[in-house]
Amino acid sequence: TSLKIGMIPADGIGKEVLPAAQRVIEALGSAIPKPEFIPLAAGWEEFNKNGKALPDETVRVLKEECDAAMFGSVSSPSHKVPGYSSPIVALRKHLDLYANVRPVQSVSGTPGPDVNMVIVRENTECLYVKREEIKDLPDGSKIAIAERQITSTASERIAKLAFELALRRGAERATPGAPETFWKGPPQVTIVHKSNVLAVTDGLFRESARKVYEENKDRYSGVKVNEQLVDSFVYRAFREPEIFDVCVAPNLYGDIISDGAAALVGSLGLVPSVNAGDNFVMGEPVHGSAPDIEGKNIANPIASIRSAALLLSWLGYTDAANRINVAVDNVIRSGIATPDLGGKNSTTEVTDAILKNL
Ligand code: NAI
Ligand code: MG
Repeated sequence: TSLKIGMIPADGIGKEVLPAAQRVIEALGSAIPKPEFIPLAAGWEEFNKNGKALPDETVRVLKEECDAAMFGSVSSPSHKVPGYSSPIVALRKHLDLYANVRPVQSVSGTPGPDVNMVIVRENTECLYVKREEIKDLPDGSKIAIAERQITSTASERIAKLAFELALRRGAERATPGAPETFWKGPPQVTIVHKSNVLAVTDGLFRESARKVYEENKDRYSGVKVNEQLVDSFVYRAFREPEIFDVCVAPNLYGDIISDGAAALVGSLGLVPSVNAGDNFVMGEPVHGSAPDIEGKNIANPIASIRSAALLLSWLGYTDAANRINVAVDNVIRSGIATPDLGGKNSTTEVTDAILKNL
């Protein structure tokens, strides 16, 4: 059997970092079934060429032929362009990838705070339902309104995934040979919200997460639950990031706090993610298409390489994932690094060093 992975580099540095992840997966040998990569189109460039940011054929091949996928990054314009909408947001919807799982971790033996948290971001609703409207007011000024959707169904399923992940991380930490981690305590889930102000929407998110815990108390008895308002979460994450393990948040907060958390470990170019549903999983670096550095072979490939590891561990290939993560940590410790981390090395050199360490 083989492992069919749809590869969607999309735009900008996505086209430089996704091939790096592919090289690492290819180098795993018999640790995984023989990988087969299927290149697929999407993105802003694709939109300008063929009129569709997410071709139907890409969705069809992902659904019918692929076991998993990797996505690079898309260059979405900041203004409205008729006919265009972000292919990554659409893909999450088409494939029902309701969770965006973003581990943010530092490497022992390197400067900086001890971080070992994972942000679990709800991926289908909140303000990202994009129901916005703008109206003229009688006095000639304008009003723009966005609808925010929070459902108990989506909130409960994301909370369940967060609790299960906390359990799994606890078990993995206890496994001999697992990469070293900074988190020493029992598994913990922090519910991030703002229900002191948004009592109805964030209130429902919070209650749903609590309900999942209360209704599965036997299963989750070893997991510590707490909560943190999103603004003070940012404050505490910057001052004492070591106090967080798994953090579950609605879509927009999750998006923002994970970029913030990335700064704690030195670069967005280090932080991986998977978009996960019950039937499909897609690895994706947290960063965007980085137009300021594209085409120079200096983008940090580690976020994508770690996304490949996360994808493989999600599929059950934990040993292969550990091998990648250990190699990446070794290379970070060795000081071979792209300019975002203060280094002088290229995308290719960092990737070569990781391959050598595998
Ligand atoms: P960005 O993540 O592309 O870049 C932010 C900063 O981080 C830039 O200075 C960039 O050079 C740096 N950076 C990001 N990834 C890096 C890497 N691997 N190595 C070294 N440095 C790295 O965010 P920005 O500038 O806000 O957005 C640029 C474009 O990306 C926009 O069109 C935006 O819509 C899109 N975007 C796409 C996302 C996706 O595909 N999921 C997510 C976020 C933004
Ligand atoms: Mg983002």
